[in-house]
Amino acid sequence: MGPLVSQHTVLFVDDEVNILKSLQRLLRHDGWNVVTAGRASEALEQLDRQPAQVVVTDQRMPEMSGVDLLSAIRAKHPDMVRMMLTGYTEMNVAVEAINRGEIYRLITKPWNDEELRATLRQAFDHYDLKCEIKRLNQVTREQNFKLQDMNRNLEGKVRERTKQLDLKHQELRRAYVQTIAALAEAVDAKDTYTRGHSERVGVYASKLARELSLPKEVIERVYIAGLLHDVGKIGVRDAVITKPARLNDEEYEEIKLHPEIGARILEPVDFLRDIVPCVRHHHEWYDGSEMGYPEGLRGDRIPLPSRVILVSDTVEAMSSDRPYRKGLPMEAVLSELSKYSGSQFDPKCADGMLRLLDREGDAFIKRDQKFDIYEFIEG
Ligand SMILES: [Fe+2]
Ligand SMILES: [Fe+2]
Repeated sequence: MGPLVSQHTVLFVDDEVNILKSLQRLLRHDGWNVVTAGRASEALEQLDRQPAQVVVTDQRMPEMSGVDLLSAIRAKHPDMVRMMLTGYTEMNVAVEAINRGEIYRLITKPWNDEELRATLRQAFDHYDLKCEIKRLNQVTREQNFKLQDMNRNLEGKVRERTKQLDLKHQELRRAYVQTIAALAEAVDAKDTYTRGHSERVGVYASKLARELSLPKEVIERVYIAGLLHDVGKIGVRDAVITKPARLNDEEYEEIKLHPEIGARILEPVDFLRDIVPCVRHHHEWYDGSEMGYPEGLRGDRIPLPSRVILVSDTVEAMSSDRPYRKGLPMEAVLSELSKYSGSQFDPKCADGMLRLLDREGDAFIKRDQKFDIYEFIEG
């Protein structure tokens, strides 16, 4: 026999001493630990002292029958493999016990030595297999618990990380927007009369975007595009920009280049990819007429933020002082919006702006209003 991980023990219970002795003799070379008991009570004590994997009992014994003994053992040692070694006369009882699941197998007296050995071997295998299944189940359960635990931790960590990233992302966007605002301010500063124009157009446009119930990300895009819409004026001569009188044709052609120049300035900035078309088309006319530039796009072909910005740009420009005139009164602004709704302006945008101005009056174009786009979007 090879070395055993744990020695297999079988307990035989019979009130006939000769049977116990012959069983012990028969199995002395099989590598099993063979123990015996002459009575049921002795068997139970024996099992308390030394566990066995297999118990084999006679049926007819004084004090307690084999079936009752096995029931008692089953209650105390549920894993133990229970068998009966019984004569033909007690067969009925034994078969019934098998059918009730009380015992694993039946061996008849007189027994066949080889069959008995084979049955014992199977019984031990059965026991070992049950133990192994139990152990594997336990391991699986523990692994599952550990996995669930890890998953919970992981979920928490991922959530935490995502939150941090979102915050960082938001910080970055705000920093970008500030940089953009500074850039736009530098453009406006070329001309004392247009100082603050870009910021105000951004504010008006984002308010109009909200009035039109556009999604958050579009409101943000409208604001940024509004801030940047005239950034291309950097490429226009100061003399043209600050000319304190009406522009001649040639100068007008030069000023008309600013949307294209602006788009080219912004194109290489990955973060501003969505903004570029909004800037390029902020002077297109809704009716597609050649008054609009640079491409004469019409209707929905013009990016929505551009249409929102054009209305806001007009409101800002009309209500501000110019070198050659004072800012126009609110009525003039309102009638201009109505007059050009459908030709220059998208009617939806013009109507939205009319509603806003009607509601807010002069407060809408008040100078130096504090405006936090993110508070505005989220609030
Ligand atoms: Fe412009
Ligand atoms: Fe403008």
